[in-house]
Amino acid sequence: MSAPVTYKKIGVLTSGGDAPGMNCALRAVTRAALMKGVKVVGVLEGYKGLLEGNFLDFTERSVSNIIEEGGTILFSNRCEEFKTEEGMRKAVENCRKNGIDGIIAIGGDGTFRGATDLCARGIPTIGIPGTIDNDITSTEYTIGFDTALNTVIALIDRLRDTCQSHARCNVVEIMGRGSGYLALESGIATGASAVLITEIGYDEEEIFEKVRRVKSTGKRQFIVVIAESVPKRLGQPDFSERFSERFEKNTGVSTRFVRPAHVLRGGSPSLRDRLIATEMGCKAVDLLFNGVSNSVVNVIDDAVGFMDIGFALRTDNMFKGTLKEEDLEGYSEEQIRKMRAICTKRQNHIAYLYDIVSRVSN
Ligand code: F6P
Repeated sequence: MSAPVTYKKIGVLTSGGDAPGMNCALRAVTRAALMKGVKVVGVLEGYKGLLEGNFLDFTERSVSNIIEEGGTILFSNRCEEFKTEEGMRKAVENCRKNGIDGIIAIGGDGTFRGATDLCARGIPTIGIPGTIDNDITSTEYTIGFDTALNTVIALIDRLRDTCQSHARCNVVEIMGRGSGYLALESGIATGASAVLITEIGYDEEEIFEKVRRVKSTGKRQFIVVIAESVPKRLGQPDFSERFSERFEKNTGVSTRFVRPAHVLRGGSPSLRDRLIATEMGCKAVDLLFNGVSNSVVNVIDDAVGFMDIGFALRTDNMFKGTLKEEDLEGYSEEQIRKMRAICTKRQNHIAYLYDIVSRVSN
């Protein structure tokens, strides 16, 4: 067990794609740390701010009235320079110069890679998963996912109204990077006729056949949800538009296409995101002050916990099929078994959800 560590000043940053609820997390980090007598600085624009020394001294009031705000008051960035040795050196130097002795980084897997690099250079770090994609294998939930889902539901409910009036189909392409979670869960919640994700194979002809059959039973409106990973994996950026044309041709249902894209990233965080982000923010501070670092906060079976970043990133690569053999060097058989078990559980969960869509999409 780690021993408590005395911190004087920590930095909090948001990095990568913004997500509703990031503000709740950074509010919780700030207040929980200040309450322990530790100073807090907000780092502007993620890792870019760290290497440019762009810091704001935070008080309790700096994070007032942001719990309901979408986006991130610290702004965000995907910083390429931070990935270089020189960028990393500047970031560490700025931390030292400004008396920052720990960092809490809120973001996705890219943010976690940055956090572990900082840690390796002597700055203790804790990551908090914040991305609408829910695509981080080490956690069953990421901040922003629920709000994005609710946004998709609101959009598709409106599309359904007009599809019903005009006897049409709407094909909707949904963000999610490499993950089908947003597409899958929104597909269930909006009664989609089909969901296309990369994690589970699909057969276009089967989809068209099913639609022709249910159309003959009097169904007027159809929704098809496609995860953005499908066109990306196929290397066909216009796959969803072309699919819409094939859908119309093969089913005889007039079809329109829509890609809501970044609309999903905005908006006031939902109840679930406010709660979980606040819980995760407090957890990150507790971990850091109790001597834990190089770790990420996570949710497994509805409980907030944490995992070593190296282990988390390798598990993520294992699930995404990007793990190199040498990446597992130094890990025990038992640890590798645990990684595999996490991946299997995730794949089974996706298959379970997919089965539900298939069973009720008539
Ligand atoms: O990770 C969040 C996300 O919105 C993904 O769903 C999407 O693939 C990507 O970011 C878009 O990135 P950008 O904001 O750089 O266009």
